[in-house]
Amino acid sequence: MYSVSQRKTCMHPGKRAAAAAALELVKIDTILGVGTGSTVNVFIDLLAEAGTRITGAVASSEATAARLEGHGIEVLDLNMTGDLELYIDGADESNANLELIKGGGAALTREKIIAGASREFICIVDHSKQVDILGEFPLPVEVIPMARSYVAREIVKLGADPEFREAPRTDNGNIILDCFGFSITNPVELEAALNAIPGVVTNGLFARRGADKLIVGYDDGRIETIDKPD
Ligand code: A5P
Repeated sequence: MYSVSQRKTCMHPGKRAAAAAALELVKIDTILGVGTGSTVNVFIDLLAEAGTRITGAVASSEATAARLEGHGIEVLDLNMTGDLELYIDGADESNANLELIKGGGAALTREKIIAGASREFICIVDHSKQVDILGEFPLPVEVIPMARSYVAREIVKLGADPEFREAPRTDNGNIILDCFGFSITNPVELEAALNAIPGVVTNGLFARRGADKLIVGYDDGRIETIDKPD
């Protein structure tokens, strides 16, 4: 049975199971990198509920920072912390190599920075996020506003159909193009090709630096832990 606070944050047993399993891997007195999204929100709430003593957290979005601070967890500046031991975040899709699509919540750039600065990246997802080939979820690309149309034309040349996300600007003041129709058989190559377009801040492929461990939660509360293949 869920407590009231858990019911408010997550009715999804798979997300909750993955978040709870990740909590077991958090060491006390650590500075934790914390991602963004509904699965991570459950993780943050469980972390606070468990009373796990951490030194503080580096947040990948303003929303995550606010949630952490709401629980009395200190939010630290990555420029002051140096590299982190552990980053915990969700994903929109993962393939068997633990290459990911992220950015459904528009926090992809800060997420990619923290993933890069962390020795271990544990990704927590429910079973629906596992795919054979990345790309059914539209790939988010964060773009400098003045470059929107130019970048969109370049993305069309790469074979996708970019759509301007009608939403507030990202935490960095930029816009998001959601790219439909990519069937991503070489994520490392596409990640680099998109990042090479002038005006692209970053894209939601986490392939060059994917997850080290994927914790998958199922509706019946089971979890499966998958390590990145060698
Ligand atoms: C945020 O920008 C994303 O990268 C999230 O990590 C991703 O969208 C997963 O979110 P959910 O946990 O809400 O599915």
